[in-house]
Amino acid sequence: MHFFLDTAEVEEIRKGLDLGILDGVTTNPTLVAKTGRPFREVIEEICSMVPGPVSAEVVSLDTEGMIREGKTVAEWAENIVVKIPITTEGLKAINALSREGVRINTTLVFNPLQALMAAKAGAAYVSPFLGRLDDISTPSLGLVADIVGIFNNFGYETEVICASVRHPVHIVECARLGADIATMPYAVLEKLIKHPLTDAGIKGFLSDWEKVPDKPF
Ligand code: E4P
Repeated sequence: MHFFLDTAEVEEIRKGLDLGILDGVTTNPTLVAKTGRPFREVIEEICSMVPGPVSAEVVSLDTEGMIREGKTVAEWAENIVVKIPITTEGLKAINALSREGVRINTTLVFNPLQALMAAKAGAAYVSPFLGRLDDISTPSLGLVADIVGIFNNFGYETEVICASVRHPVHIVECARLGADIATMPYAVLEKLIKHPLTDAGIKGFLSDWEKVPDKPF
């Protein structure tokens, strides 16, 4: 399973890279706006830091504008993935750009048919948004199970990115369901290795170690 950071903060990406398990980055206009930095500058810096895929989102609503913006950002770095929302106009842009070899991450996916349409159009990735569904009392994990199952049924190579992740349980469930990727805030990534019993265990071992005679280190 691949882990991406869902952030445009380069410091968080640096910390993720230090852990040695970071496979890629996703951004969106909200995350870029939070940095207060110019879009191209921040995306190019992230692409130079991370060897894996880096998603940058288009903001036009019409197919022509999405294609124009997609082609522009795709030229900024080899590892750019163009993020396009799953609308009628978006679907046409996904089709056109995918045919030209641009990798697309289909964003704002909330039902399995949106994911199937994106896969048919040639998208490299689909991003079901878990947290935003849970926020409106709609269980999100069934969506991931449906998409993974449908892609397996037909052999689609489109990868499933679990997005809008809020907590470690989302990651466990996505892993159990066979999602290819989870993209998460740095705060969630940090929590994946935390357990109070691990901390308590270390404390106990260190305290007992003090009683060992002739310690070699
Ligand atoms: C995914 O690529 C999106 O950037 C992201 O996961 C959205 O998450 P949010 O619902 O926390 O804004």
